[in-house]
Amino acid sequence: MVVTRRLPAAVEDRISGLFDARLNPEDRRLSRAEVAEALRSADGLLVSVSERLDAGILAIEGRRARIVANFGVGYDHVDVAAARALGIVVTNTPGVLTDDTADLAIALMLAVARRMGEGERLVRDGRWRGWGPTEMLGTRVSGATLGIVGMGRIGLAVARRAHLGLGMRILFHGGGHGPEPSALGAERRDRLEDLLEQSDVVSLHVPATPANRHLLDEAALARMQPTAFLVNTARGEVVDERALIEALRLGRIAGAGLDVYEHEPEVPAALREMENVVLLPHLGSATTATRVAMGQRAVDNLAAFFRGEDPPDRVA
Ligand code: 8YV
Repeated sequence: MVVTRRLPAAVEDRISGLFDARLNPEDRRLSRAEVAEALRSADGLLVSVSERLDAGILAIEGRRARIVANFGVGYDHVDVAAARALGIVVTNTPGVLTDDTADLAIALMLAVARRMGEGERLVRDGRWRGWGPTEMLGTRVSGATLGIVGMGRIGLAVARRAHLGLGMRILFHGGGHGPEPSALGAERRDRLEDLLEQSDVVSLHVPATPANRHLLDEAALARMQPTAFLVNTARGEVVDERALIEALRLGRIAGAGLDVYEHEPEVPAALREMENVVLLPHLGSATTATRVAMGQRAVDNLAAFFRGEDPPDRVA
């Protein structure tokens, strides 16, 4: 078994007990050639968002690996259609990171609307001259309207926090099956444009499928109110980053809270220079408890597969 990144100790101990595991104690990013070598030499791979497993590499000659267990719920970096065609099983880790990712979306929403990054920089840089009644006024979030794009597990967890904790009115586009959205008073908007026009904060919770690439493009961003904020804890590819920079630069939207980027780990200088943008380094699931749970879930999938069972979180 090849484990591409360093994982929490409890997970590495378990995988080493179950398999002949090749770990990555220095947490060095594997090159494409090393991933290819792993596909040729190991029966299975435990991978992360840092490795791109496209059709070309999956179809490599002499491949031995029969399963790719992804550490994470989003698996847009794995070509599942190619894997399916080649008979490679792919699994993910749904559910265990829902709450932490939802917490982070709420944190980003509050941080950008209440100018927390800007305020922190002011204090940290020694530039704060004292309290003032009209200093650094932000935007009230409590009672505002939150538009959720993608009412799946994470979208729903955000809606729950926003409605029950902050008294927000919830609109949503996509997903939202089951009784909970209506119990929260959430209103469906069949047209994304309507949600964008009517929301004070827009939070993205859709996977980076080809259909969702640049879902928020120039035209979509233009639908948002100039006072509205965008929060992205999903995937950078869902937003046209250049169009977002332009919308922020021209004041077409009020700010953005971002945890993900189109070309990670590259974060455009234009974004880094803007005060009304809060930037985090892909931290959605980054708590100790969740990273252990994600790892154990990936190992559960590998263990089931090598026992000859269908892995619980199979996506291909
Ligand atoms: C992970 C994520 O940090 O689960 C996901 O889709 O984006 C994050 O939780 C990342 O995918 C690790 O591989």
